[in-house]
Amino acid sequence: MSLSEKENEKNNLNENVRKEFEDFKEMFDRFLQERGHSINWSKINLLQDDALIMYGKLPDANENDIKTLLDQLVVIKLNGGLGTSMGCTGPKSIITIKEELTFLDMNVKQIEYLNNKYGTDVPLALMNSFNTDADTQKIMHKYCNVNVTIKMFKQSRFPRICRESLLPIALRIGEENPEGWYPPGHGDIYRSFYNSGLLDTFIKAGKKYMFVSNIDNLGATVDLNILNFLLNNTDKAPEFVMEVTDKTKADTKGGTLIDYEGKLRLLEIAQVPKEHVGEFQALRKFKIFNTNNLWINLAGMKRIVEEKTLHMEIIVNPKTLDNGMNVIQLETAVGAAIKSFDGAMGINVPRTRFLPVKMTSDLLVIMSNMYSYKNGSLVMSPKRPFPSVPLCKLGSHFTKVKDFLHRFATVPDIMELDHLTVSGDVTFGKNVSLKGTVIIIASPGERIDIPDGATLENKIVTGNLRI
Ligand code: UTP
Repeated sequence: MSLSEKENEKNNLNENVRKEFEDFKEMFDRFLQERGHSINWSKINLLQDDALIMYGKLPDANENDIKTLLDQLVVIKLNGGLGTSMGCTGPKSIITIKEELTFLDMNVKQIEYLNNKYGTDVPLALMNSFNTDADTQKIMHKYCNVNVTIKMFKQSRFPRICRESLLPIALRIGEENPEGWYPPGHGDIYRSFYNSGLLDTFIKAGKKYMFVSNIDNLGATVDLNILNFLLNNTDKAPEFVMEVTDKTKADTKGGTLIDYEGKLRLLEIAQVPKEHVGEFQALRKFKIFNTNNLWINLAGMKRIVEEKTLHMEIIVNPKTLDNGMNVIQLETAVGAAIKSFDGAMGINVPRTRFLPVKMTSDLLVIMSNMYSYKNGSLVMSPKRPFPSVPLCKLGSHFTKVKDFLHRFATVPDIMELDHLTVSGDVTFGKNVSLKGTVIIIASPGERIDIPDGATLENKIVTGNLRI
């Protein structure tokens, strides 16, 4: 690298650090001012009829329009998270999911399929964090011959704050204290994308909307009917669409859409006053939850960043560090910006658009014969007698991907499974079939090996297995 290149790199770094620091300062100031101001429960209203439409009511995109529609789209995947909840180090997106493909491979293949089929150049942009950037960059060569333009931008790095003193625990920028810093949530996308220059580049290239989603949501594919609705809407097209879906007992923690002072808002569990948490989680009042699949107008995004009208509630996330210190990290959620846009709405989408892989129990379902893989998307097998996803709970022996893989000689047949609970030291032989409700519990000090070829149907197994 020449001397002037080095100088340039240093200037860029300084400029990025300056912007990050300004953003942190603004969030910290707001945190100090707004402390204790939680949501006023009595002001929450259920959604107006025109704020939420059913996906099934959207007209189908006309085949002849699809290329024009896709030409105006950018796909963004939130790639700042690590695979720690599944016992992996490194970005979650590079965990292998099915047929030797990682989350990232699947996302790339999905867009490549669209680009090949419709002769388009839909770009994929990854929002990395300082935790995932280097490892993601390292594997990019895999995609050099793929028909997808992949761009990356990095979200900010904010200092963690000591809960007692309210002082940052990282004292110097660049300090190699991995516990001193954190990526401040996916709400960071607005400023990071803007600061990276990519927002302007895409607008100049004629792109109108971005589709943003969690990289671990395997149901978050580009939906042509939603895109058509946004771009061919004769009335004023909404600048922001949140895909929501019907809440089940498994989704009680997800954020929901509400009407607050006449505007749509995302209500997260962290904002709910303690005495209303039960009401928030019940299925009766708040019937839908946010999938984090969002469609955002790029010009609208530019406007709210430049005019400084972007507002997202601050989520205070308490953590205890390895050394026992109690810290807080201030975060924002991408969906919380819904209230800053003109004409925002929710679309109630089928559950198939929300297929997250958070734990190895989700991995079991995805890897099984219940799903097949086609053109970068997962398709539920038509042989499944009912369309619901089985409820699987695997105990702590299965938490890490490595242990999980070790404990299943082959992935069981779960085509007819409703509910699986496994606890303790349990292993599964080859070609096991699980049907109905199956509960397997090995007490401490005991081990249960499910033999090759076993079929367990509506069975509780404790102690030695007899079938
Ligand atoms: P989360 O960690 O927020 O997942 O990451 P979650 O606990 O399921 O919460 P929600 O309800 O879905 O939001 C969701 C996605 O956002 C990315 C992760 O990589 C994942 O794809 N993410 C999260 C970032 O890119 N940056 C962050 O700072 C946090």
